[in-house]
Amino acid sequence: MAEKILVVDDDLESLKLIGVMLQRQGYAVITANAGQQALDRALADQPDLVILDIMMSAMDGYEVCRRLRHDPLTQHIPIIMFTAKTMVDDKVAGFEAGADDYLTKPTHPAELVSRVKALLARSAQRRAPSDRSLVWGFLGAKGGVGTTTLATNVAAVLARNAPTALADFRLGQGTLGLSLGVTRSTGMANLLASPANEIAAQAVEREMVPHSSGLRLLLSSGRPKETLLSASPDTLAAVVQHLRALQHMVVLDLGAGLNRLTARLLPEMDQLTLVVEPNRVALTLARDMIAEMQQIGLARNQISVVMINRAQTSAQVPWQEAEQLLGHEMTAIISPAPEMAFQAAEAGLPIVIFQPNSVVASQLNKLAEEIAGRHSA
Ligand SMILES: Nc1ncnc2c1ncn2[C@@H]1O[C@H](COP(=O)(O)OP(=O)(O)OP(=O)(O)O)[C@@H](O)[C@H]1O
Ligand SMILES: [Mg+2]
Repeated sequence: MAEKILVVDDDLESLKLIGVMLQRQGYAVITANAGQQALDRALADQPDLVILDIMMSAMDGYEVCRRLRHDPLTQHIPIIMFTAKTMVDDKVAGFEAGADDYLTKPTHPAELVSRVKALLARSAQRRAPSDRSLVWGFLGAKGGVGTTTLATNVAAVLARNAPTALADFRLGQGTLGLSLGVTRSTGMANLLASPANEIAAQAVEREMVPHSSGLRLLLSSGRPKETLLSASPDTLAAVVQHLRALQHMVVLDLGAGLNRLTARLLPEMDQLTLVVEPNRVALTLARDMIAEMQQIGLARNQISVVMINRAQTSAQVPWQEAEQLLGHEMTAIISPAPEMAFQAAEAGLPIVIFQPNSVVASQLNKLAEEIAGRHSA
């Protein structure tokens, strides 16, 4: 099937010209001559690429670009900004708004086509589901360090490229759904009521709740009845195996500390991220947990450590010292953003969707891509 390109320009002449050039190369072309129309068409027609003029009345190309990037249903679409201007500042503004590439008018047809081809190839590569599924667990060295926030955001990044499930394994203490604005949260409890060999893939599929971030959520409630005491480790492992088969990318929020359930789940995981905060207590707990996880059978390169700096304070253990205490390298440090974390939770959205251009969002993106890349390499 021909790749579909949405061309946006309020100048009808250049709209036609670019359209014809692309059609000659075999692309299916759809057009819009105003910002709002572009957003509507992008959402409805899901083009493979957008070519966007900057100078448009009413809503300019930067704004269109930002809005496309903000919407989980359009944020993955590659964007080329197209304009008569040649100022470097415009280029910077374009990239800041989230454009992938930039062309100045008048453009030679050959250049336009080669940029389009290159960008489509890159995005096809990014979107092609690798044949290796990924199960990625997040475990807090202690409670309240930001494990749920990290798991949720990483899952939202992965969901751009492949079907992704996010499962809350804090049985009876689930908060994941609430922080995403979902109150129906008995999916996990319903599954765990059955013995391991009786859980069917269809049942797991049925208990997942779709979210506007693109994620499929398997949620634990806050009801104490659904507790660690009654759940069987093998049943939990069976749930993870079904999730892997159903969703390609599977992110697990394991809560804090190793217990008999999380220990049983370790062999089901490809990657485990241990979440710490910048103090000696958390780092010391983390060191012991790393040693124990290696004994249970995880390899060193399957374990990563991420430090979340929730408070803006200088009284914290610096990177190098933290790595010494851990006896393990740290993959990332996430900057403090208390207000944004709060507002994102109020909006029921992951930070990477709520404020995609923030520093923290780019740190989260990078982490997700690095570990997923490490796994598929
Ligand atoms: N980078 C950050 N800067 C500031 N606050 C943050 C940051 N990341 C997360 N938070 C906030 O920290 C609090 C705890 O986060 P979260 O619920 O993710 O922790 P947790 O480790 O899952 O907790 P629990 O052990 O209770 O499950 C939340 O209020 C969250 O909004
Ligand atoms: Mg949590």
